[in-house]
Amino acid sequence: MTATTLTLTLPDDWHVHLRSGELLKAVLPFSAQHFGRAIVMPNLQPPVVKTADAQAYRAEIAAALPENSHFQPLMTLYLTEQTDPNDVKQGFLNGDVTAVKLYPAGATTNSAAGVKNLEAVYPVLEVMESIGMPLLVHGEVVDPEVDIFDREAVFIEKKLQPIRARFPKLKVVFEHLTTKDGVDYVQSCEQYTAATITPHHLVINRNAMLVGGIKPHYYCLPVAKRELHRLALVEAATSGDARFFLGTDSAPHLDHAKQSACGCAGIFNVANTLSIVAQVFENNHALSHLERFVSLNGALFYGLPVNQAQLVLERQLEPLPVPESLSLSQGTLTLFDPLMPVYWAVKQVITP
Ligand code: DOR
Ligand code: ZN
Repeated sequence: MTATTLTLTLPDDWHVHLRSGELLKAVLPFSAQHFGRAIVMPNLQPPVVKTADAQAYRAEIAAALPENSHFQPLMTLYLTEQTDPNDVKQGFLNGDVTAVKLYPAGATTNSAAGVKNLEAVYPVLEVMESIGMPLLVHGEVVDPEVDIFDREAVFIEKKLQPIRARFPKLKVVFEHLTTKDGVDYVQSCEQYTAATITPHHLVINRNAMLVGGIKPHYYCLPVAKRELHRLALVEAATSGDARFFLGTDSAPHLDHAKQSACGCAGIFNVANTLSIVAQVFENNHALSHLERFVSLNGALFYGLPVNQAQLVLERQLEPLPVPESLSLSQGTLTLFDPLMPVYWAVKQVITP
């Protein structure tokens, strides 16, 4: 007999793209409704590279928040070969910046300014290691000779292992893990390495994107892999292992940008993430570990207190309806359809 309500510590989202301008205003309320905090990705155009940019972006987010919201955006800097270690250090020590994001140049949306030569950023990594500031990595190589389905595994060997060896106490979050290779790697590491896992990589494999027609709303980076990888991700997430936690990687693009001859990568999922993740945990008889994955493990790794507020999920008798697209002034935004029955609905947030 399954529980019909679940009361959890309010979850956090350890990886989200909130965008800016009108799109920010449209998507932010969904994050603010279900999450206490979120690690906000810096890949705006132009990217958030300095502490001053992060302060300005945080102010834009604060101004777009619904009234009385307690949602706290945790800001990140976009690592470039010009990043000043002192600016990073000051930003972290002042509480303006929580982490630094490494995008290999060209790996994904707005990553052209990313890092080509890792050694050029070693002075920044050295400072981060000394102050306990996490490095968040987009773990894919960009070498055109490497098959897109192998890019994560090759990244581990060619890029991540050298960073780990050189900076053994640097906190590293391997973002949006998509492979068994990634799971095995994180499990082989000690306390300084963790990983985020998205709701979509827990429920789809590459067939969702490619079978029966090309489905742009299932295209994201890193791309979903084969089923054996999805199963490894589910096992890691539901195991309760403190090294794995939720990062939605919600990355909204309007439909016209996705449904195109060269469609953008990204899945918009924050509105139904917690319903989907709860269902995955129920289906795997692991509801007792749900709170660790969505609310506890991330805070522990980042060294932050867990949220005081709570979130109540309620199991419905009928599956939730397939999510509807949002009509925004600039176009339509499609919400992730997990392609499976989902019974868990968010009922309320209880603030202390
Ligand atoms: O699918 C993705 N979309 N992956 C990323 O790494 C970036 C993101 C975006 O910003 O659209
Ligand atoms: Zn992302």
